Amino acid sequence: MSPHELEERLLALEREAAEAIQGEEEVSGLEALRVKYLGRKGLLTQLLRSLKEVPQQERPRLGQLANSVKASLEKRLEEAKERALLRERERALRSETVDVTLPGAPLPRGRFHPISQVMDEIVEIFTSMGFQVAEGPEVEWDYYNFEALNIPKDHPARDMHDTFYFSSEMLLRTHTSPVQVRVMQRQRPPIQVISPGVVYRRDSDISHTPMFHQVEGLLVDEGVSFSHLKGTLGFFVKEFFGRGTEMRFRPSFFPFTEPSAEVDIGCVICGGRGCSVCGGTGWLEILGCGMVHPEVFRAVGYEFGRLTGFAFGMGVERIAMLRYGINDIRLFFQNDLRFLEQF
Ligand code: DAH
Repeated sequence: MSPHELEERLLALEREAAEAIQGEEEVSGLEALRVKYLGRKGLLTQLLRSLKEVPQQERPRLGQLANSVKASLEKRLEEAKERALLRERERALRSETVDVTLPGAPLPRGRFHPISQVMDEIVEIFTSMGFQVAEGPEVEWDYYNFEALNIPKDHPARDMHDTFYFSSEMLLRTHTSPVQVRVMQRQRPPIQVISPGVVYRRDSDISHTPMFHQVEGLLVDEGVSFSHLKGTLGFFVKEFFGRGTEMRFRPSFFPFTEPSAEVDIGCVICGGRGCSVCGGTGWLEILGCGMVHPEVFRAVGYEFGRLTGFAFGMGVERIAMLRYGINDIRLFFQNDLRFLEQF
């Protein structure tokens, strides 16, 4: 190749490359151009192989020319790349703008389970009357759950309880009544306690779950009578279900009370006219109660005669269902937020 031709070609390459750089907007494209023209196997390098074909005395001049072509192209590439980067950043800024005045993503707020709410409310009503909260274990001895409550091993009342047993002597409590016994064992009258808690029975259908909640009440002192029981529960019913709620006591049987009764309220659904919820009777059973049985006093070592007391127990789920018109107890424990969020 003649010196003249090499010079022409170098200048042509510079023009061609400069034009290509000018027309390229992307950083990646510019990098491709750098490789194409200035890379180790690029067009400029290839052209410089011809340098050894030109006469010795022409080589320094042409070598210098090649160097200045290279330097000028490098400079153009660098400047073009800076402009491209700037454009990219501007584009990004425009598309990723954050509007700080937009409302934030709502943070869902938790709340108490309806059963906890109802249980707290029941406890609150009784503590306002001077009852103190007492608690007992969920894993309980047969003795406290049955024996001391006047339910011996062969007593038919045990059949009502569908007990989960660990052994012949240990079980999951089937009611909160054993707390009565524990409180009387450790404390002398006057006693006035309310005992909320979890209980267990082997039972599962539309109105039974294997785990549910009860609130137990116990009041023992000198001269306590059935009318005190009536007054106390009457106050509770009016506070919880509303002033106008009707209430009646119906004779019943529990081994640990004598006499025993069940308390009904006027049906909250039909107002007493009779509907499917109250089975046409106009009344809904809400709790069991009675005067503490002499056998229970004997079990805890109280002398009967001077001391008397009343007790009562209610199912929290049942009361919550009546209050809110819920027809399936299992809804409480399925953790469906569409249900739980309504309380
Ligand atoms: N323990 C009874 C039950 O689970 C409820 C009950 C009835 C509790 C009468 C009492 C009571 O304290 O006096 O069915």
